[in-house]
Amino acid sequence: MPRRLPGTHWKRLERQERGEGLYLIAWIDERPVGHLLLKWGDSPLSPESSLWPTLSDISVHLNYRSRGIGSQLMEHAEQIAARRGCRQVWLSVALDNPRARALYERRGYRQTSLDTHVSRWPYLDEHGQERWQEETCVRLEKSLSART
Ligand SMILES: CC(C)(COP(=O)(O)OP(=O)(O)OC[C@H]1O[C@@H](n2cnc3c(N)ncnc32)[C@H](O)[C@@H]1OP(=O)(O)O)[C@@H](O)C(=O)NCCC(=O)NCCS
Repeated sequence: MPRRLPGTHWKRLERQERGEGLYLIAWIDERPVGHLLLKWGDSPLSPESSLWPTLSDISVHLNYRSRGIGSQLMEHAEQIAARRGCRQVWLSVALDNPRARALYERRGYRQTSLDTHVSRWPYLDEHGQERWQEETCVRLEKSLSART
């Protein structure tokens, strides 16, 4: 997937190998077209954060969007979390990303009472230079209790 630093996928896989997450990849034939990292822990919403996992790094390749791939990744992540006994999941979305937010709200995610926060990550620009992206995000949560 474009723009992220080399090694990003390995770091997510390493997290999975430590038992701290599950890195879901959407495939079309031999081509990876989207991903979602389901993190056990890291929740600012609950001290029992392993039971309140995070959906992060949700992305679908530009040429494959609006085909239901993002929804399928989320559906799988929510099912896996529910099977593990989790009653909620949460995610962060940037204030300037209304399309993603609309998708999450259609799936039943609602804004939490927590303040907005700034998320920063490195990426490579078109010249291969490392730069930092910054986004102000809100946190959304979803109850999984209807599934269990
Ligand atoms: C947000 C993102 C992950 C959604 O992935 P996606 O695969 O496009 O999502 P879906 O196709 O499941 O649903 C999104 C849209 O497709 C529509 N859709 C759902 N299933 C569909 C299908 N089978 N066929 C066609 N359209 C479909 C939805 O109604 C929705 O419509 P919209 O275009 O009005 O928003 C993707 O747009 C993306 O990678 N964006 C850039 C990165 C990003 O913003 N990530 C989120 C960070 S929080």
